[in-house]
Amino acid sequence: MKASAPGKIILFGEHAVVYNRPALAVPVDQAQVEVEVTDSDKSGVWIDAPMVELHGELSTLPDDHPIAAVILKLFQHLGISQHPNILLTIRSTIPVAAGLGSGAAVSVAMFRALSSYLSHPLSDEQVNGLVFEIEKLHHGTPSGIDNTVITYNKPVFYMKHKPVETFTCGKPFTIVIGDTGVPAPTKESVGDVRRLWLHNENRFEEMFNEIAQISTMARRFIETGHPEHLGELMDQNQEFLKQMTVSSPELDVLIYAARRAGALGAKLSGGGRGGNMIALVDQAAAESVAASLTSAGAKRTIITEIK
Ligand code: MEV
Repeated sequence: MKASAPGKIILFGEHAVVYNRPALAVPVDQAQVEVEVTDSDKSGVWIDAPMVELHGELSTLPDDHPIAAVILKLFQHLGISQHPNILLTIRSTIPVAAGLGSGAAVSVAMFRALSSYLSHPLSDEQVNGLVFEIEKLHHGTPSGIDNTVITYNKPVFYMKHKPVETFTCGKPFTIVIGDTGVPAPTKESVGDVRRLWLHNENRFEEMFNEIAQISTMARRFIETGHPEHLGELMDQNQEFLKQMTVSSPELDVLIYAARRAGALGAKLSGGGRGGNMIALVDQAAAESVAASLTSAGAKRTIITEIK
């Protein structure tokens, strides 16, 4: 039994989304997780996950190991007490800790493949809820945006505690993603923003309101077929992210390089302090902006069309 899940990028509203403001995120098909579940001739639940250099049996892993936690959660959810003899093979082209949602994508694909193998396929809503439980184990206070965009595999306008809203693009647009190669410490940056917010609630609430307006305007421009206006909104969003202390020298260098190479706007994407930045480009300029990012130190670039 096989299942796959895409990566994701946040276009607007990261961090503010933790404080009940809307954010926009889209799936990225160029980065994928694939999980296959087959019978095992060895006894137990075997996991083969080369991207995290793991080949081992479930009972040798701590219960809160990200991969073990998914399996144990599903067994608990389905009321399975006897572990079947199975082999889970996990392959991923989503870089880990890069702001592309690798953890949530692994969890989504695992829940789907394993539940189908056990003849109890889960609905999207069930997968989304279970993956959110796993995200909470690892990230403290996640907003739920990563599991939502990856589970539904559609662009989402996301607000905590609100029904999922997907959106469609009036006109496709092109984004270049550049990876700093520095792991994004999302739990730490989310925690630091919380501490700063506690010290200066008025200022942070004001910034979150401004970002909420940016996300709302961006959705309108996307839906009405005017993505060319998104560049300026990205630059504005990036200024607020900087004030929130979640940018970094490496991100700033790539963002600057993208703008100099003709991008219409650029910002970090995800938790920040590392991980990825994104730039809005005319399709014809995508390759040259990607090349400039590589020259400026990006460890990897992805060109993706949002449609
Ligand atoms: C992480 O991809 C996005 C953050 O807004 C955290 C979250 O929403 O849980 C930084």
